[in-house]
Amino acid sequence: TTATTVAASQMRNALNKLADTVEDEEKQQRFENEMDSFFSLFRRYLTEKASGTTLDWEKIRSPSADEVVAYSKLPELENKNNLSKLAVLKLNGGLGTSMGCVGPKSVIEVRDGNTFLDLSVRQIEHLNRHYDADVPLLLMNSFNTDKDTEKIIKKYQGHRIRVKTFNQSRFPRIYKDSLLPVPESYDDSLESWYPPGHGDLFESLVQSGELDALLAQGREILFVSNGDNLGATVDTKILDHMIETGAEYIMELTDKTRADVKGGTLINYEGQVRLLEIAQVPKEHVEEFKSIKKFKYFNTNNLWINLRAIKELVESNAIEAEIIPNQKTISKGSSDINVLQLETAVGAAIRHFKGAHGVVVPRSRFLPVKTCSDLLLVKSDLFYLESGALKLDPTRDGFANPLIKLGSHFKKVSGFQSRIPHMPKILELDHLTITGNVTLGRGVTLKGTVIIVCNDGEKIDIPNGSILENVVVTGNLTI
Ligand code: UTP
Repeated sequence: TTATTVAASQMRNALNKLADTVEDEEKQQRFENEMDSFFSLFRRYLTEKASGTTLDWEKIRSPSADEVVAYSKLPELENKNNLSKLAVLKLNGGLGTSMGCVGPKSVIEVRDGNTFLDLSVRQIEHLNRHYDADVPLLLMNSFNTDKDTEKIIKKYQGHRIRVKTFNQSRFPRIYKDSLLPVPESYDDSLESWYPPGHGDLFESLVQSGELDALLAQGREILFVSNGDNLGATVDTKILDHMIETGAEYIMELTDKTRADVKGGTLINYEGQVRLLEIAQVPKEHVEEFKSIKKFKYFNTNNLWINLRAIKELVESNAIEAEIIPNQKTISKGSSDINVLQLETAVGAAIRHFKGAHGVVVPRSRFLPVKTCSDLLLVKSDLFYLESGALKLDPTRDGFANPLIKLGSHFKKVSGFQSRIPHMPKILELDHLTITGNVTLGRGVTLKGTVIIVCNDGEKIDIPNGSILENVVVTGNLTI
């Protein structure tokens, strides 16, 4: 349509002007490539918006039997040589803003002084030692996370691990109303830009030269996972299965419970496997999407991807992951402005890969930390650390993890740390709710269902050594 053409050409002009503001010649080429990628994403967004293309709900099928394989059915091949074909990548471009952190989430301390990043490194180090292998670890940073990350990984020089980093793209946020870019120059402030989601991995891996470097080392498969998923360790059974089947892409799925109804799910669409995200679901079908009957599994974002296939797809511009438009209000100068950022997810690219399928893994491979309630869980005695990996205490085997709900005083990591400086013992806990101005002393044990509710203006301090079992604590009263 005319409107689409006008918006596209205005954007192109604005991006050309931005490119003129790059003074450093070395940075010029990279920036122009970035703006070209952004422009094609933007144009695709305009076209899709104009045509209103959405999925036809009637055509959505559950994946067929050969499109989801049970982990327990995978054979033990124990082909140690396969590790020489593997590289591991942690997605590390996101900030810990939802947990009140200013820097990358991966630098939050999780256990015994170890950050997420430290644990990832220790896991790979252990793998390399155990199998006498040389699996490299790659971190995909963003302009938001690279400086802090570089500082931390310095300490791994001299360790038995190669840590490489590269940056994902930096795209301009756009004004929601005019659809023009927010930044006025290459050096414009950080709030004017955004990292375009982990779907950017493919492009950035190729553009940075890291993909070719990996291929040159004989690496064929990349194991990708979220930086905050402590359960995403290298699993040689899945690796062997991938090589055995020649699949170009494997998505680890896990059984959906009522608590994770929002996660993306694998579907069969016109004979092809695809990821279906809640954002793509028409309103009238959202309840059906959330049901755990029709869509039994969800995406853990632990992904095994063939590197050569990535290269071919990127070079032929074939990857068209669904665009997730993300609206935000940011402050620029002294005013608040409404912006749009166009993002993509790495899981959405599954449909472009040959032989792509899901493997249904145990829940233990999905241990994300999205909130301080999750942080309490992974820091507690429910888990123990073994070579950088978190293992569930055997007495909890087969049971669901306790449901933990911490109120707004615990939203930020700093608030959480000052209120719960010592982790309570929660091996026999089923459910914990804490709201209000509450602190826990040292050596507290929580069992069964414990609810601590502190009203506004009051304060509850749970004394050192307390044992709380199936109680509701409010104000100074214990019922
Ligand atoms: P998300 O913020 O997407 O987590 O980051 P989420 O809300 O759980 O969403 P999904 O369903 O897992 O996608 C997931 C991981 O991706 C990284 C983050 O650092 C985190 O490790 N990430 C996110 C990037 O590397 N780049 C981005 O642009 C966004």
